[in-house]
Amino acid sequence: MTAEGTNPGGETSSAGWTAAWELLLPTSAAPAGRRGQVLQEALREAVRSGRLAAGTRLPPSRELARDLGVSRGLVTDAYEQLTAEGYLVSVRGAGTWAGDAARPVPGSGAPAPAARRAAEFDLRPLGADLSLFPRSRWAAAQRRVLERAAHAELGYPDPRGLPELREELVRLLARRRGVVAAPEQVVVCAGVAQALSLLGLTLRGRGRRTVAVERPGPAELPELFDAVGLRAVPVPVDGQGLDARALEETGARLAVLTPAHQFPTGVACSPTRRSELLDWARRRDGLLVEDDYDGDFRYDRQPVGALQGLDPERVAYTGSVSKSLAPALRLGWLVVPPALVEPVAARKRLLDLGHPGLDQAVLAELLRRGEYDRQLRRCQRAYRERRDVLVAALGRWFPAARVTGVAAGLHAIVTLPARYGPTALFVERAARGGVALRALAEHGLPEAADGSVRLVLGFAHLPPGRLAEAVARLAECVDARSG
Ligand SMILES: Cc1ncc(COP(=O)(O)O)c(C=O)c1O
Repeated sequence: MTAEGTNPGGETSSAGWTAAWELLLPTSAAPAGRRGQVLQEALREAVRSGRLAAGTRLPPSRELARDLGVSRGLVTDAYEQLTAEGYLVSVRGAGTWAGDAARPVPGSGAPAPAARRAAEFDLRPLGADLSLFPRSRWAAAQRRVLERAAHAELGYPDPRGLPELREELVRLLARRRGVVAAPEQVVVCAGVAQALSLLGLTLRGRGRRTVAVERPGPAELPELFDAVGLRAVPVPVDGQGLDARALEETGARLAVLTPAHQFPTGVACSPTRRSELLDWARRRDGLLVEDDYDGDFRYDRQPVGALQGLDPERVAYTGSVSKSLAPALRLGWLVVPPALVEPVAARKRLLDLGHPGLDQAVLAELLRRGEYDRQLRRCQRAYRERRDVLVAALGRWFPAARVTGVAAGLHAIVTLPARYGPTALFVERAARGGVALRALAEHGLPEAADGSVRLVLGFAHLPPGRLAEAVARLAECVDARSG
């Protein structure tokens, strides 16, 4: 195998390496005389089991030795030994990678060998860059919260959420998104996902049977609503947002939409469409549910205010920290018209007895101290730069590419001329070359009539250098065909 084939551009912090890292930890704990052997066994096992995927770059020996607290010689010996055995591939002066010679032992439960090259670059819309999570600020706030919490605060929390968090959220959402609400209208919940299921359950209890969803839209929504007894009816999205006339025809009285930055097309709901949708809600005694999943991030202008602010009686609003902090927190909010607060909170109580109180207190602390705003600014800077890098790299390698949707959020829609297609083949060729892609068709749209290749590319989770490399690699994978 040549150096090209083994990811010379890979980073030591790649997902494959992280997944294998814990297998190596016993090395540090082993008696001094056995450490070399333990490290070699652990590396062999990591490659054999697939946890260290073929093509994953290993850290330089000096770095790994420092991390494991062993001598550098011990690591270089291990690399040399495993290279000789075929588990690793080394190129002098360039680095060491996991090789692809090893096969899982039958019946060991290890994953089957990959039919294609492991994805070295993932350009699917994967969300936030989790390395931007403010670990030390979160940890410090957690300590402060624990130090001052009375014993009683360790009991079951208010199912609507901690009052101090709801107050902070109302201030934040009014200031940044133009949301109009009293703290009593906020229910703290496990992200947008839970907000939608709580609201779905509540409205199912009030006789609703259908919910209109955007097409294209988030792929999971029909199943989520099915689980709470609602049938999802897809409604087309055009260049102005959710099609209000088509919505009318569904007969639904409940609709979920992403007005700030439609997912996935990236369209911003126009002022005219906003008023048509609000008219629909007023005429039909309907409710619009505004999923403001990435509304904080707009790069060409101030973010457009929330639809909710135009009619708080007709629009419920939901968002979360999944794009600004981390999805692992499962921390989000639902703002509902006053009449829905109690029924929604009752379901929250029934399902999980309230949201984890300590995490809520930590978020309230970050909000109070202005640290959450700082985090938003930091993400905004990073993501704006990454979007620019993506657009520039596409311009260089795919001059015919069109990037559509407003400059916002964490993903973009990219369309390539039909000569690159069909889409399925394009995605497959990219996968074989180590680049994972998501076709727009996966969000419920048929293929484009003109045969063009439409992709939903995520840019926020990759550092700028990796993004540029990913696009260059993509060009390499498809060049032969597109000329
Ligand atoms: C359209 C949309 N809504 C909401 C979310 C976030 O969901 P949650 O807040 O449950 O993490 C996502 C996540 O990627 C999304 O794409």
